[in-house]
Amino acid sequence: MSEKDLLIDAAKQARENAHAPYSNFRVGAALRSTSGRIFTGCNVENASYGLTMCAERVAIFKAISEGERGFSALAVVTGADVPTPPCGACRQLIWEFCGDIPVTIANLKGQTDVTQMKDLFPRPFDDSNL
Ligand code: THU
Repeated sequence: MSEKDLLIDAAKQARENAHAPYSNFRVGAALRSTSGRIFTGCNVENASYGLTMCAERVAIFKAISEGERGFSALAVVTGADVPTPPCGACRQLIWEFCGDIPVTIANLKGQTDVTQMKDLFPRPFDDSNL
């Protein structure tokens, strides 16, 4: 299996743990570190809707809190008809911690699409602006 397919598979597995009783929109993410580890995340919703955390940010926070710095690829899997790209808040964090990595989005039908972060998140606000 290719590295890309392995990452999609990890995201698909993580999606199984999604806590999404309000939207029923289950998301899984898998982040590969430059040291070779894979960190996964799923969306975690709350009855106070605004406290919901996206799958991508769960994966990033897990990796950062484990001391990882430097990432090479991200995969996001949903059950939608068309693969779904990361939300705006997640794009800001992916840019901060991962920079211009390839982001693979996939669905359960096996459709995949890869976009570089610089194209998903043009003209970012980041530390170069401070
Ligand atoms: N969601 C993610 O996990 N990642 C995204 O990039 C988009 C949205 C989650 C949040 C919420 O639990 C559900 O999908 C519907 O918005």
